[in-house]
Amino acid sequence: MPAKHKSVELLKLNNGFSIPNVALGTWKASPDDCYNAVMTALKTGYRHIDTARIYRNEVSVGRAVNDFLRQSDVKREDLFITTKISPYEFQDPENAILASLERLQLDYVDLYLMHHCVAEVTGEGITPRDENGYRKHISPEVFSYVDAYRLLQKLINKGYTKSIGICNINVPKIQRLLETKDLIPPAVVQCEIHPYLPQHELVEFCKANNVVVEAYSPLGSTGAPLLHDPVIVEVAQKYGVTPACVALSWAVARGTVVLPKSTTAERIKDNISLIELDDSDVSLIGNIYKRMTKRYLESKWKINVYESDADFRPPT
Ligand code: A2P
Repeated sequence: MPAKHKSVELLKLNNGFSIPNVALGTWKASPDDCYNAVMTALKTGYRHIDTARIYRNEVSVGRAVNDFLRQSDVKREDLFITTKISPYEFQDPENAILASLERLQLDYVDLYLMHHCVAEVTGEGITPRDENGYRKHISPEVFSYVDAYRLLQKLINKGYTKSIGICNINVPKIQRLLETKDLIPPAVVQCEIHPYLPQHELVEFCKANNVVVEAYSPLGSTGAPLLHDPVIVEVAQKYGVTPACVALSWAVARGTVVLPKSTTAERIKDNISLIELDDSDVSLIGNIYKRMTKRYLESKWKINVYESDADFRPPT
């Protein structure tokens, strides 16, 4: 069956800005690889780059972005740059974003995301851990993700970011943000989402509430294990494309932004060349989780941050 190619689309955010629905993910990209990957991506046509404080590669992202802007006719406003505040920074978002902007050598980012829904202790480095390897968090009763989000939203008026959002969140916690009167709704949520963890409920909930969802680890993270799934391989053969193309095309077909990470030039180019999938294939892939469900990325927290709402601070 001949594949119909699909261009990158701009999705409208609930604050009027637009976001390209394919981005280069940069987690685990070393500083040198990251520079080359971002440069290759921008030259290939990517206009959306996703990084984070904790990836320790903001300097490389910023160098590549600024070099590319100097060498091309593309303007800063044509790009969409995301970074993330680490949980150890949650109590002081202004200093956190200023430090990220300094590393990125940018005046603003397009999207600033809270990396998790729990704050960590400060003063013990980027990833504070206890003796058993658990992340050292601050009790949500003392300082919750809602408290952090309330501080974060001030960064928009200061011009440091156009939009804010939150990662690794679930439906009850998004609902809590939407229902809290003095909070602006998140423009974006970013979660692990792929055929083994399709998060149908979260995707539908966000669609109904006008929040754009970003899918990280769309290939199953390191080693891209999803690419060996028999259904994905079969659909790829049907269209004459790679399994990666199918997994990523499925993500955009259901309206999510997709963030494939690669430092390999050929793959970076392939990962933006997506196709239209038939509705029947979208649904076939959307049902794979009934045979195989897997979350690949789980930080060691002492509280269940992914599934439960136990880390809410009870309303006072
Ligand atoms: P590499 O960076 O060496 O190219 P995810 O986006 O789910 O986090 O997956 C990232 C992993 O998938 C990395 O190991 C990356 O390897 C690999 N990868 C990315 N794109 C492709 C592709 N088109 N085909 C095969 N593997 C890929």
